[in-house]
Amino acid sequence: MQRIAIFASGSGTNAENLIKTYKNTEISVVRIFCNNENAGVLERAKRLQIPVTLFKKADLWDDKVIYNALISEKIDCIVLAGFMMLLPQNIIDAYRDKIVNIHPSLLPKYGGKGMYGHHVHEAVLANDEKESGITIHLVNEIYDSGEILFQAKCPVLENDTPDSLATRVHALEYEYYPKVVADYIKTL
Ligand code: GAR
Repeated sequence: MQRIAIFASGSGTNAENLIKTYKNTEISVVRIFCNNENAGVLERAKRLQIPVTLFKKADLWDDKVIYNALISEKIDCIVLAGFMMLLPQNIIDAYRDKIVNIHPSLLPKYGGKGMYGHHVHEAVLANDEKESGITIHLVNEIYDSGEILFQAKCPVLENDTPDSLATRVHALEYEYYPKVVADYIKTL
């Protein structure tokens, strides 16, 4: 059994998809870590009966609260699902090559600090890109720069809005993220 923790800051649709896909499998979603008290993922976690740790930035960076929680719960891997903060060095070091993120563009395009969620889709449309997609990658000290595990593309259509493009990109996320993470975890 592999024990994973999901970190999420927002709506949590990917977190819900991961939890549902891994139910009754060799992967156990042990806990959700969330830094936003207004995040939709909190309601999803409650409904799906997954324990949540709601934390402040200081808990993550200044103290060892989150690090200690991960260690004491024997978490094997961390999966970021719309998590909007950089992880601190102690967690990166303890979980080297064991932290996976999903990004809603074809990295290295439209990555880096400030590039998340709708900001990414707005930038893709502003630059008249003909395609976008998803990147699933390992996490290191620098935003969106770890080794790429998987990418999938979708077209950008003439009349796309950030919302319509986000819907197409989300569909790719739901299709591929649980499988790519599960396949990767098996190799560890
Ligand atoms: C997803 O599209 C994910 O790729 C993106 O945030 C969204 C979260 O949606 N992540 C980033 O932009 C990370 N830089 P969700 O809360 O519904 O899963």
